[in-house]
Amino acid sequence: MKIAVGCDHGGFPLKAPLVDLLKSMGHEIIDKGAYQNDPKDDYPDFALAVGKAVQSREAQRGLIICGSGVGACVAANKLKGVRAGLCHDTYSAAQGVEHDDVNVLCLGARIVGVALATEIVRAFANAKFSAEDRHARRLAKVNAIEAAG
Ligand code: RB5
Repeated sequence: MKIAVGCDHGGFPLKAPLVDLLKSMGHEIIDKGAYQNDPKDDYPDFALAVGKAVQSREAQRGLIICGSGVGACVAANKLKGVRAGLCHDTYSAAQGVEHDDVNVLCLGARIVGVALATEIVRAFANAKFSAEDRHARRLAKVNAIEAAG
């Protein structure tokens, strides 16, 4: 699938290895930067670029990496249709997609190393939303909150 990837300076060290991983899994990467490690760049710019790619369906999924992953997650979730999850374990990365239809994974490169991040991204990319009624019902309620907000 097409996966939009973005990071700020805090996430920069993880971007290249995770892009390589996703490519090796057969995914197409839409690279939204940063293209160099600039300590003055701002995570909302990359969260917006990745979130818009998912919102417009240019990409089916997104990956945003910042220092903690928190800022990226907060910013991305401001976009309608984006369901970003901050996951630093493989269970959440997979279940977030299966139960909650998470479409953007956020990671903190100051929190997880490349080995764990690789497994988390693999779990996220391999997971699919469950068709079970209870998950569809809950997602509809989340969408109603978004529509009312
Ligand atoms: C940048 O220094 C850092 O604040 C940012 O990458 C991220 O951790 C914010 O949540």
